Amino acid sequence: MYTLHDWTIIDDGRDGQAALENGNRLLIGNGYLAKRGTVEEADASCMPSIILSGVYDKCGDLWREPVNAPDPLFTVLRLDGVPFTLASENLAVHEQSLNFRYGVYSRKTTWNIENVRLTVVSERFVSMDDIHLLCMKYTVSAALDCLSLEVETRINTDVHDLNGPHMGSFQFKIKGQTRTLICETLEKKIPIAVAAEDEINRNGSLYRSIKGNRSSYLVNLDGSNPVEMFVYGAIWTGLDVDDPLAEAEKSILRAKEAGWDRLYAAHTAKWDAIWRVGDIVIEGDDYAQKALRYNLYHLHIIAPRHKRRCGNLSIPARGLSGQTYKGAVFWDVEMFIAPYFLATEPKLVAQFIRYRIETLPGARRKAIEYGFRGAFFAWESQETGDDACTDFNVIDVFTGRPVRTYFRDKQIHISADIVFAIKRYIDATGDFAILKEGGLELILEVARFYLSSIYYSPEHTRYEALDVVGPDEYHERVNNNVFTNRMIHMVFETAEAAIELLKEKDRAFSEELLLKLDFSKDLSFMREVIPRFYVPQPNGQGVIEQFDGYFRLEDCSINAVRSRVRDPKEYWGGGNGVASTTRIIKQADVVTMLALFGDDYPVFVKKANLAFYEPRTEHGSSLSACMYALLACETGDSDWAYPFFVKGAEIDIAGKGKLFAGLVSIGGTHPAANGGTWMTAIQGLETDLQNIYKFN
Ligand code: BGC
Repeated sequence: MYTLHDWTIIDDGRDGQAALENGNRLLIGNGYLAKRGTVEEADASCMPSIILSGVYDKCGDLWREPVNAPDPLFTVLRLDGVPFTLASENLAVHEQSLNFRYGVYSRKTTWNIENVRLTVVSERFVSMDDIHLLCMKYTVSAALDCLSLEVETRINTDVHDLNGPHMGSFQFKIKGQTRTLICETLEKKIPIAVAAEDEINRNGSLYRSIKGNRSSYLVNLDGSNPVEMFVYGAIWTGLDVDDPLAEAEKSILRAKEAGWDRLYAAHTAKWDAIWRVGDIVIEGDDYAQKALRYNLYHLHIIAPRHKRRCGNLSIPARGLSGQTYKGAVFWDVEMFIAPYFLATEPKLVAQFIRYRIETLPGARRKAIEYGFRGAFFAWESQETGDDACTDFNVIDVFTGRPVRTYFRDKQIHISADIVFAIKRYIDATGDFAILKEGGLELILEVARFYLSSIYYSPEHTRYEALDVVGPDEYHERVNNNVFTNRMIHMVFETAEAAIELLKEKDRAFSEELLLKLDFSKDLSFMREVIPRFYVPQPNGQGVIEQFDGYFRLEDCSINAVRSRVRDPKEYWGGGNGVASTTRIIKQADVVTMLALFGDDYPVFVKKANLAFYEPRTEHGSSLSACMYALLACETGDSDWAYPFFVKGAEIDIAGKGKLFAGLVSIGGTHPAANGGTWMTAIQGLETDLQNIYKFN
């Protein structure tokens, strides 16, 4: 069971099965890497991991995913060769926690052996100050009697991979007291270097052996003499520098020289600086305060603030919490995560945009692949912008066969979401220079993609978007999804406005670009399309039909659909999904559109759609609750919004997110919900409160 306190979340260790949840819940990170909240001796079944941001690998025909690095902090205690673990019969008490003000993971575990109570207390952090560095303090003490024990620390290469293994050519070396490992990824042969060194505070009866990747001590413990060990680990890759091994060794030497206290102080000073800019203080609602800070913490540990020589990074859908969702970047960043950073660290948002600009070639390739022009961005984007999403993204529970899904080829709103984020960034910061850095080219290429993929309906004398998947993934291949159509319209308007803006600011540049892209025909076509592009409108009751024919689907309750489910892991969408033929939707769709384009719609339309769609929304995605909350606040109904705020905020606290889509593992942290929690609190609840004060 977990409990949430001011700046701390504690797991009392009573639920022995919670290793996977706690791995997420107690995650620590610094944007370069993140280490899951598992105990030091955890074996691969507990999914310990150190995910490196932006480093991907593909093993054979399996899914391409982020690399899980060897762990330099792996440590285990043994008595007569038998390890002490959380599964040991003599386990007495176990507790672990995360200090989310400073990103420090701690554990305290006691085992009873005859007359001895043996206790391990550890503390670790991945430095915010020196992003390659992992530091741990590991203390072993015995109460009552004395005991001879082995303490072993090693660079552990036995890591858990969803679709691995990802590394080979392991070479271990010892240089002085530093243990080092160099290995490389299988696909692109990216060198990964890990170095580690440990220091122990005791002389006494202690025998040490250092061999390969291991350092082990034989220690005699008695009641008054605890063993305190410090372990420093460093990770560098060939994407950072030419000689990552040399850098890893240097990191370790620097760390040893500085020592725990100074490293800790430098790390916490960086966190203080982060919170000075990024903290939100809520008065009068303790729970909301703790929950919001916890969510912001999760955004900070995955924010890639560091400079890389091989391009900009963005944020994957499951952050750096594991390999699910292929470590890929989705629309989550632009629509759900960027708003918080836009308000606090807009440079990061510029970086997310640059990442998209740099992956424009991948988006162009994808457009060509489907017979379109312009830029069709990857639904699941990795470092090149080529789509990691497969045609069969779900595995059927009953047959074990892959299910054809259409996220990759039909979820075309992704390109528009990126344009929306660029527009929002420029509106908020006034930094139109990003347009010259490739932003305008991206916008025009996206506009061109839609121009080449929309259809003209002679019956209705209008342009339409057919055969798409909107945010609600349970209904695939639909026509005129309102979210998608409104976003496409926004792209055309934004493209036109951006051209005008740049003409004003730098005429020569904009003319040259239009020429280079040969955009003049597209521009006239776009101007013709803008007034004739179809965006579905509210009906007499104010409700907007999510897509053509949605109102003709079976109108039943979520419980009715749930009662048809035969396996808890069953996928609700796709050809045979229990929701596909009904009006039950996976996540906010029309409501997301209304939350984004609130100014265009009167309050009664917002209320009508909230009332209509909420009972029909499964909230099967963590991106859903926040949009309902946000829109409800816009209608002045914070009371209605509050439970949705809590629902979004609790996903990573309670570990409530879905773990499977069909048989595919999708667990991890939920950065979009973390960002959505901020949006709900600040753009929703707080704004609504201010309105209340204004009206009173
Ligand atoms: C949601 C998508 C989201 C993805 C990654 C899916 O379950 O339907 O909207 O982008 O998860 O978070």
